[in-house]
Amino acid sequence: MAKVALITGSAVRIGREIACHLAAKGWNLALHFNSSKKEVLLLEDELKSGYPHQCFKVFRADLGMVDHVSLLVNQVIERMGSLDLLINNASVFVPGSLKVTTNEQLISHNMINYIAPVILIRDFANSSANGLIINITDTRITTNRGDYMAYSLSKKGVWDLTKMAALELGPNFRVNAIAPGAVLPPVGKNRIYLEKIAGNTPMKIPSGVISILKTLDYIIDNQDLTGQIIYCDGGSHLM
Ligand SMILES: NC(=O)c1ccc[n+]([C@@H]2O[C@H](COP(=O)([O-])OP(=O)(O)OC[C@H]3O[C@@H](n4cnc5c(N)ncnc54)[C@H](OP(=O)(O)O)[C@@H]3O)[C@@H](O)[C@H]2O)c1
Repeated sequence: MAKVALITGSAVRIGREIACHLAAKGWNLALHFNSSKKEVLLLEDELKSGYPHQCFKVFRADLGMVDHVSLLVNQVIERMGSLDLLINNASVFVPGSLKVTTNEQLISHNMINYIAPVILIRDFANSSANGLIINITDTRITTNRGDYMAYSLSKKGVWDLTKMAALELGPNFRVNAIAPGAVLPPVGKNRIYLEKIAGNTPMKIPSGVISILKTLDYIIDNQDLTGQIIYCDGGSHLM
């Protein structure tokens, strides 16, 4: 029977690319969304017609609300039959240095980007005999730049979470992280913005989603890999 993956924030951008990639590899998918209802329903239709023998279902949860997060894994297992792979992709990304970051920004970044993955991993580990977890963090965790203070702190936490969960949950669960660099411009910015950032990295051009998808395959196939982070960032983490 095809295995089941839950992808948070699957309706748009990188999450959508991950969903299409895993569907093409034969996975059944729990497509999580929050506000992108139209987009997730389009994706569901597209996947159902492209892969009629696989199962695709949508799940709404506001990861900023602890009650929603606490229900998600059980809902997926109930409706999909099992869960084999959790990809913590959903995220908020709001600029702001320490001095201007509001309490609300700190709380929302912490909840959506960091606490929600902790809860989802815990619930996955408590409800399934084995599985694989892939956390999407960010190459920014290697710097102390404060231009996205709340975001960077939350993503630094995701890397520590990855290591701690890998240590506790082995051998039945593997837990790894992917740290993209400049892959897609943030909403409101264009390709020139992205190319300017990537121009300062060793590889000089934006990494592209393909780097993330190839890394996903590598992590999924490599049964010995746990507690690792792979930077898909054109070498940005070296700077
Ligand atoms: N884009 C890049 O170049 C880049 C670079 C480094 C790291 N990353 C990381 O890669 C991942 C994907 O990046 P992206 O740019 O594709 O992300 P994105 O477009 O900024 O957001 C991805 C998803 O997060 C979901 N989300 C936001 N708030 C939520 C909430 N309260 N509850 C539930 N879901 C919520 C959204 O779901 P809805 O649309 O359904 O609301 C959205 O689809 C993120 O973890 C990001 O930090 C991206």
